Amino acid sequence: MSRFAAAVHLVTTDGPAGRRGVTVSSACSVSDDPATLLVCLNTSSPDNIRFEANGNFALNLLGTEDEAIARVFAGEGSLPSDVRFARGKWRSGETGAPLLATALASFDCRLIEARIVATHRIMIGEVVAVRVGARAPSLVYLDRAYRSL
Ligand SMILES: Cc1cc2nc3c(=O)[nH]c(=O)nc-3n(C[C@H](O)[C@H](O)[C@H](O)COP(=O)(O)O)c2cc1C
Repeated sequence: MSRFAAAVHLVTTDGPAGRRGVTVSSACSVSDDPATLLVCLNTSSPDNIRFEANGNFALNLLGTEDEAIARVFAGEGSLPSDVRFARGKWRSGETGAPLLATALASFDCRLIEARIVATHRIMIGEVVAVRVGARAPSLVYLDRAYRSL
């Protein structure tokens, strides 16, 4: 898997089950009409159940400038959730999921299906709103290192 060059995203949720954000590379588009995408989250993190319980998620595409945010939401420093979220500027999307102001783009999604395969929960979301940010170099992960493209 370390040979995959993958864009780095921050997937977020908020709602009755609580706020949560996770740095992910396993995200991709599924369909155009309706716009649909998927994200895979490890079931070994108990807090990841919040995504399914809230029924929403936002996929925030990260630029190189947000490498520090990617690192904290990947668990570096083991910071509490509130401290992680304090590192970015947020607003709530239509679904309630947090949108990162500095993201290259944010897809606000309603969860339409979730299915566990092996270690991960595949979450499929229908995009209800899109926020397009500045055009800037994309944050990419390859060979266990952050890179710019
Ligand atoms: C570049 C990168 C990509 C990652 N991609 C995923 C992913 O697709 N799915 C996932 O569940 N975890 C992924 N992780 C791991 C999570 O970010 C990490 O396990 C999680 O945030 C652990 O933090 P916690 O302290 O919140 O449990 C990735 C980590 C990095 C550094």
